[in-house]
Amino acid sequence: IKSQATIFFIFGGTGDLTSRKLVPALYNLFVDGWMPDHFSIVAMGRTGFTDDQFREVLLKDINQFSRSGKPDQGKWEAFAKHVHFQVSDINDSKTYEEQSQRIATFKKEAGIDPNVIYYLAVAPRFFSTIAENISKHKLAVDATKSRIVIEKPFGHDLDSARKLNQLLGSVFSEQQIYRIDHYLGKETVQNILAFRFANSIFEPLWNRNYIDHVQISVTEQLGMGSRGGYYDDAGALRDMIQNHILQLLCLVAMEPPVSFEADKVRNCKVDVLHSMRKFNPEDIKKNAVRGQYSKGWIEGKEVVGYREEQGVNPQSNTETFAAIKFFVDNWRWHGVPFYLRTGKRMHQSSSVITIQFKDVPHMIFPSEAIEGWQQNRLIISIQPEMSVRLQVQAKRPGLDMTLNPVDMIFDYNGTYTGDTPEAYETLLLDTMLGDQTLFMRGDQVEAAWDLLMPILNAWAGKKSLSFPNYSADSWGPETAEALIAQDGFHWFTLPLKNAKK
Ligand code: BG6
Repeated sequence: IKSQATIFFIFGGTGDLTSRKLVPALYNLFVDGWMPDHFSIVAMGRTGFTDDQFREVLLKDINQFSRSGKPDQGKWEAFAKHVHFQVSDINDSKTYEEQSQRIATFKKEAGIDPNVIYYLAVAPRFFSTIAENISKHKLAVDATKSRIVIEKPFGHDLDSARKLNQLLGSVFSEQQIYRIDHYLGKETVQNILAFRFANSIFEPLWNRNYIDHVQISVTEQLGMGSRGGYYDDAGALRDMIQNHILQLLCLVAMEPPVSFEADKVRNCKVDVLHSMRKFNPEDIKKNAVRGQYSKGWIEGKEVVGYREEQGVNPQSNTETFAAIKFFVDNWRWHGVPFYLRTGKRMHQSSSVITIQFKDVPHMIFPSEAIEGWQQNRLIISIQPEMSVRLQVQAKRPGLDMTLNPVDMIFDYNGTYTGDTPEAYETLLLDTMLGDQTLFMRGDQVEAAWDLLMPILNAWAGKKSLSFPNYSADSWGPETAEALIAQDGFHWFTLPLKNAKK
């Protein structure tokens, strides 16, 4: 499905996100034939670029970041004609008057009322000025065609998230607001719903009667790069768990929606967040663990500890690792622990969801027959390996009865050919099509904050912690092992073959 004529205004047009993600994604959509016949991309920024100069800058980045490698010269030229630069100041009325003129000209040329998308690729402190000016200049009056897209962080805590929602809500209706969580655009994440609800064999098992526990592990080898300033104010809980990882949990734990429509799906997801058990101070001590990395070696290179990173307070108590045991208090999940962990500078970059099933009720095989017993597991590997594995016990070929665990594997690379679209391609296409299924609704964002506030508050204490407590290239602090080991389990890691660690 192609969308209708669309004009994109990207506030923060000279930023990293625009050149690394947004424009390459739009270019790929163009190459694959998904862009509408009439479209215009207007990057907004203070730098005095002409259209041509800005196109040159982009071309350099697209060379580096496009999934199709170097852009095809002819296609790039055809695409670049649609890209413009508007020298602008978000505080100045002229900026919005010029936008209004651009929309009028575009409409005349296209002969149709276009979708108008305002993409706020700017720091959250600029959201209110931009939203108020859009309203003042009546740039978003058509509720079906004008949309605003914003990136996380959606607030710093429950209070600020509510204020942000109120502010956006005073200018736009919820149907016009697209809050991006780029995890939801990943192919392997979208597949969770297909896997659960387009197959009949899993759903009967998908509950407390058969599932022992669930693990969601999102580990990264990356350190801070140039993001220390932002991160030191956020930490792992805000940066990863509040959004991406709780969204993964919702996809695993949600009830079947009646149809694949945005609000039907989002209602079921928000129900999960509302069912999650709130933490009291005792639970926090027992079930929430944090860590911070010290220096170490990653793939032969020495890396600094968190407190030595650029932009980070040398006495910082910000967590770069968090592991938490959650419960979803409803009929389906009563008593099933959900272990979540995430961290920077860990041994391996990989995002994996593991559903561990209960043991067989009665063992008929003698202990000599068993080599490495493993309860059944369904392993959904989001990245870098894109796969779903079902671990089962099998008889090893031979004259005796010896059992060992083997994997039944659905591997994207072996199954499908061709490029996998980047998350931003899916999400930008959906904003043009007006499909909000993969975007965060305001109440979801607030429910996620509400759940985490007791932990954030407990962790906000100023007293100095015995940080750092895990070294770069490890699997996090020992306390994280203890968190899961005390229940008799251990963190599952998928050995990565032929993939960068
Ligand atoms: C971002 C976080 O939202 O997600 C980063 O702010 C993190 O800290 C990134 O590195 C991870 O995304 P991905 O797609 O690389 O797993």
